[in-house]
Amino acid sequence: MKMRYLIAALCLSTVGMGGAARADEPIVIKFSHVVATDTPKGKAAEYFKKLAEERTHGKVKVEVYPNSQLYKDKEELEALQLGSVQMLAPSLAKFGPLGLKEFEVFDLPYIFDNYDDLHKVTEGPVGKSLMGKLESKGIVGLAFWDNGFKVMTDNKPLREPADFRGHKMRIQSSKVLDAQFRALGAIPQVMAFSEVYQAMQTGVVDGSENTPSNVYTQRMHEVQKYLTLSNHGYIGYAVIANKKFWDGLPADIRTTLEGAMHDATVYGNDIAKKENDEALQKIKDAHTTEIIELTPEQKSDWRKALAKVHRQQEGRIGKDLIQQVYQATGKPL
Ligand code: LMR
Repeated sequence: MKMRYLIAALCLSTVGMGGAARADEPIVIKFSHVVATDTPKGKAAEYFKKLAEERTHGKVKVEVYPNSQLYKDKEELEALQLGSVQMLAPSLAKFGPLGLKEFEVFDLPYIFDNYDDLHKVTEGPVGKSLMGKLESKGIVGLAFWDNGFKVMTDNKPLREPADFRGHKMRIQSSKVLDAQFRALGAIPQVMAFSEVYQAMQTGVVDGSENTPSNVYTQRMHEVQKYLTLSNHGYIGYAVIANKKFWDGLPADIRTTLEGAMHDATVYGNDIAKKENDEALQKIKDAHTTEIIELTPEQKSDWRKALAKVHRQQEGRIGKDLIQQVYQATGKPL
């Protein structure tokens, strides 16, 4: 065989293995995400790296790239499909643009009262069926990772639904979140996570919704005067891998990585609530932001204003899927 062809054949065989390296070189997994290391997702990713490298005795090297260092929200999903990175953990609110609208069921306001409700869905048949939908996009779903319940931040106090009128609110790329803010009379604007701080600082947006751990680690509280403890919705993640890469791994390595993912998931989901509680305390201690607690009447007004979003989104998400979530949690709105 001529040298040229030999080289080409060698390259092809490497590609065929989904980029897996030669026996003497570690298999490199680039794991990109958009949040800080000091968050539930950031810590779970680091823990996965540690376990994966230890348990494969260095045969696998996991390079974690936090804080949108490599890619922003939309780009990272494209990069995964192209094989430029092997693993991600995007928010469940970011799968719509891939054509996986069903994931937006997690964005419905007040669909979960607490983590227990959520786990009944992620750890049950609904979670399994959602993960299965990723395959047609060349993606394998490995786990659901928790973050937490959202607060609203803004430069004006948000106590009543009417307070949102005309406010420009940053959202993740979810049509359900778009509908949620429109139901409140606000003007939603899709924006990459890495751009939110500056948009708040310069007044491009008035406010947003996020978990306390994201607000604190992105220093959003320094550029937002008010934070409402609304717990109106949830942010969590699907940990995903490029399917060709994952399926091309040697079977023993894949099994070890699945075990590492299982244990990193237990660890990350265990610390998520505490991380968010601590972040909220740090925001309070910073004294940059007034914390608003809603009265029972105000909470009920928010729920009433947002209840229609569930019905409105039946066409997009699927009435059956919404019903399945209600059944799993035992709590229709
Ligand atoms: C956001 O864009 O606000 C979040 O999805 C970021 C994240 O990954 O938690």
